[in-house]
Amino acid sequence: MTDRNALVEAARAAREHAHAPYSHFRVGAAVRAKSGRVFSGCNIENASYGLTLCAERVAVFKALSEGERDFDAVAVVTDSDTLTPPCGACRQILWEFCGDAEVILANLSGRIEVHRMSYLLPKPFDSSNF
Ligand code: THU
Repeated sequence: MTDRNALVEAARAAREHAHAPYSHFRVGAAVRAKSGRVFSGCNIENASYGLTLCAERVAVFKALSEGERDFDAVAVVTDSDTLTPPCGACRQILWEFCGDAEVILANLSGRIEVHRMSYLLPKPFDSSNF
């Protein structure tokens, strides 16, 4: 099983491909499927700002489009002292496919925090609500 460090390294490498000419805030993410495969993503901004895609959603959507459906860990890497948690929209997407997965936040200096989705998204809306 891919360990935390390997998942963080995949996110760090993906961050190198970030397209962030507007915010200059480069984000890398990686998700680990229960199959063991790892999929990474970076944020991709657009001149029409609202079309920007977060790194987490790029990683998850890449994996989904390759046939994966269940994930048990996600890593997010930025270059900020205060580690970067997934935005609200990404939390909703992550909950749908990762459930109460481990969320590893890291920066380029080696700082790491580990949370659970249920901490980041308490009382979630999901298919159990209808
Ligand atoms: N961003 C992510 O990629 N993931 C997050 O969870 C937070 C925000 C990106 C979107 C945008 O390109 C930049 O960070 C600044 O908001």
